Amino acid sequence: MNDCTALRCLVLGALWGRVCGFDLELPTSVRTESPAPPLWAPQYKVSWELAVPYVSKLQSTPLLNRFDAWQDAEHGRQKLTKDGVETTIEKLGEKGEDSLQYQIYPRIDKLDCRTDEIGGGAGPTAQTQRRLLQSDSSSNAAKLGLVLPDLTESRWLYNGSTLLQEGRHANKTADAWVWRVTNDEGYGEYHNTYTFYVDKDGNPLRLNMWGVNLYTGGHFDLYISDYFDYKAGEIDEQEFDVPSFCPEKPDPDEPGSNGGRFHRNMGGIARMRSLLPNAHYGDEEYDVFVLRHGRRHRSAEEYEGRRQVYQDNKLKVQEWNAGSNAHQLDVNHFADWTQEEFEALMLPNKGRPRPSLGNMAFDNRRVKLHRPTVAKHLLPSYVDWRGTPADSPVKDQAACGSCWAFGSVASMETAYYRETGKQLLLSEQHFIDCAWDAGNTGCLGGFQPLAFNWMADVLELATEEAYPYQGVTNFCKKNVTDKVRFKKFSQVWVNATDSLTQEEAVMEAIYTKGPMTVSVNAEGEDWRFYKAGIYNNTRCSPKLKKLDHAVVVSGYGETEDGQKYWIVKNTWSANWGEKGYIRISRDPAYDCGIATQAIYNELELAD
Ligand SMILES: *[C@@H]1O[C@H](CO)[C@@H](O)[C@H](O)[C@H]1NC(C)=O
Ligand SMILES: *[C@@H]1O[C@H](CO)[C@@H](O)[C@H](O)[C@H]1NC(C)=O
Ligand SMILES: *[C@@H]1O[C@H](CO)[C@@H](O)[C@H](O)[C@H]1NC(C)=O
Ligand SMILES: *[C@@H]1O[C@H](CO)[C@@H](O)[C@H](O)[C@H]1NC(C)=O
Ligand SMILES: *[C@@H]1O[C@H](CO)[C@@H](O)[C@H](O)[C@H]1NC(C)=O
Repeated sequence: MNDCTALRCLVLGALWGRVCGFDLELPTSVRTESPAPPLWAPQYKVSWELAVPYVSKLQSTPLLNRFDAWQDAEHGRQKLTKDGVETTIEKLGEKGEDSLQYQIYPRIDKLDCRTDEIGGGAGPTAQTQRRLLQSDSSSNAAKLGLVLPDLTESRWLYNGSTLLQEGRHANKTADAWVWRVTNDEGYGEYHNTYTFYVDKDGNPLRLNMWGVNLYTGGHFDLYISDYFDYKAGEIDEQEFDVPSFCPEKPDPDEPGSNGGRFHRNMGGIARMRSLLPNAHYGDEEYDVFVLRHGRRHRSAEEYEGRRQVYQDNKLKVQEWNAGSNAHQLDVNHFADWTQEEFEALMLPNKGRPRPSLGNMAFDNRRVKLHRPTVAKHLLPSYVDWRGTPADSPVKDQAACGSCWAFGSVASMETAYYRETGKQLLLSEQHFIDCAWDAGNTGCLGGFQPLAFNWMADVLELATEEAYPYQGVTNFCKKNVTDKVRFKKFSQVWVNATDSLTQEEAVMEAIYTKGPMTVSVNAEGEDWRFYKAGIYNNTRCSPKLKKLDHAVVVSGYGETEDGQKYWIVKNTWSANWGEKGYIRISRDPAYDCGIATQAIYNELELAD
């Protein structure tokens, strides 16, 4: 087999494929017979379409994202456009100047722009970026990050020449480069296989990913990127022109800035990074995590920084679980984020003034107060709506501060069920893209009372199917036809009464009305890593101004030894907590605010 050349592999086809491929320890002589891997030019433009052929469980619209990238390592500039709307431009500063990043994104029907200084903030991404920017020895390409994966790395093995099937490049002959990883985390072995196809002239054709998506970090699946219009050579400087509506300097007062530079930086860099392929690897244990949860690193330094954060968090989790604590923690998909990064991405509402019934114009059309109908002594000791059509499935907000939209939609889905006896999933993306005027800010945070105010004005919401989740802010789509329309819509707040305490009033409302949205103080690290048990954090505050995350309360109960708890649904996927849920102590002092701001909806459908 030592003379197994690419040509023979092609001729013999599948029969010899495994032998010719990477499954066997190949003699080095075979590797040297492979052509030289393509080298990407220092300046190039390339476009690609990323397809996810699998039709996901909750979303039947096929996903196809178009990307256009301009990479100019020579002058330290990069631009990336997603679906023709969301654009990020990075410009490395000359000596003594700031390196700036401009994020141009849709806001209802026009573009808005945020300017960030690259290299501010905390966490391995920002620290690495800063180190790279300050280092004279690192190249501009390293400072900017690669758009196309670096096939000169030893993990990419040549796998012969082949005819491409289907898609934009069907029937073209291509050289295939394969990178394969096998993992076993104790749940059975799984394989990630990445195949990069290049034509004879060294143009990128396709990246076929069986595994975690190298571009957006999605779960294990089949992803196909078809490249086109690769043009090496000088890029017109105008491509990197920054629109005139972009601020010249970062503005610390803009929405979502969380009072400082850190948050904006994190959002910008993290988003840019999440669109580029991973170029770094090395630690066996951390690589398993990376491949399971889809992480990307722009540089070896960032990889090392994140690996360290992961190890530190893993140790904390192990120590906690070895102690005598009421709940257990998990090394989950947040384990290589620092606490600051976690708060910036997942809790953008932290520290922002929260609307309360006290400071909202009390408008009876929009806001009502719940009237209990069941006496305290008649309340059941256990109410659990999980698994019923009144409690919609656990969703995943991904890396977008949209908890407010998820909480609001969940309450509306319950109300729809109460009204019709049917479950219908409704659109979070509709809120994210369109509810700005009420004071919400897309992926940068928002509040359920403001979302509901907006709903009381527009009186219609698209279905999830018609307006699926994208995890980024986009233009407000006006032409969606599959909508639920309301004759009446209001939000109903649950307050203590003469005969019921705040907790009892919320219990009564859950019993009589079903799951509803509440807010929590979720900044505790043990919340981020929660796995199972009754969450009983005595430092967790139930005060209104400390509530920074929207969730849904789906029931309440009591353990055999008398521990009372709330059943709470989160939107961090079913991989978090108890299949996506958390049980939280029902002690009013330590309930993290579950009973503080419970809101459900009343609605009447339009004919
Ligand atoms: C490698 O090449 C062989 C022979 O063409 C083929 O059967 C196999 O599927 C290829 N592997 C990958 C991962 O593309
Ligand atoms: C590829 O070749 C097949 C068989 O010759 C043909 O039917 C098909 O139309 C071709 N596809 C494209 C996109 O050229
Ligand atoms: C929660 O903490 C409080 C105060 O330390 C304690 O009284 C209670 O028993 C704890 N609950 C659980 C479930 O451990
Ligand atoms: C409802 O409760 C909140 C918090 O305790 C309070 O600020 C508000 O005034 C109450 N609203 C009404 C209408 O009783
Ligand atoms: C809705 O409008 C968008 C652009 O505003 C367009 O791309 C899309 O095709 C339209 N969809 C329908 C169903 O008309």
